[in-house]
Amino acid sequence: MKQRCIKTSFTALSWSELSDSDRDLLSQAKRMTERSYSPYSHFQVGAAALLKNGTVVLGSNQENAAYPSGLCAERTTLFAANANYPDQPVVALAIACYTNGKFTANPGAPCGSCRQVMLETEHRFNTPMRVLLYGEDEVYVFEKASDLLPIGFFAEDLEG
Ligand code: THU
Repeated sequence: MKQRCIKTSFTALSWSELSDSDRDLLSQAKRMTERSYSPYSHFQVGAAALLKNGTVVLGSNQENAAYPSGLCAERTTLFAANANYPDQPVVALAIACYTNGKFTANPGAPCGSCRQVMLETEHRFNTPMRVLLYGEDEVYVFEKASDLLPIGFFAEDLEG
């Protein structure tokens, strides 16, 4: 038996420690929480994807009375980016969560399905996608999506 250990690293920064461009992308994600359609959970998530060509694609979570038909903000945004700009790597994705009248103090953790979609987006363009998670108290910055999903599942794995 071998004991193995997975380590991941990210930076926790205050708002003032962020670069202007990261602050701008996070501000766009924060604004997008206002466009969330979340009448069931009342948990409003906004996302902003920065493409290599400088374009920013925006999205929010979209819920449905048939609950599983809804979609998280991260996937809404990445699928829109990939559908409209299929040749453009996504270089950064910012996410913010708003509930009970305020942004969350701690960064919201993307769900497993969104991490898997982030991973494939990063992999298909062979370009690191930085992930910026907004919290009122601090912001987490992951330098690549794979830091959020070690031992990921890729197309190559389908070949066995
Ligand atoms: N949600 C997101 O949009 N992103 C996440 O990473 C976690 C959860 C949404 C899904 C649902 O509309 C609401 O938040 C509550 O789970």
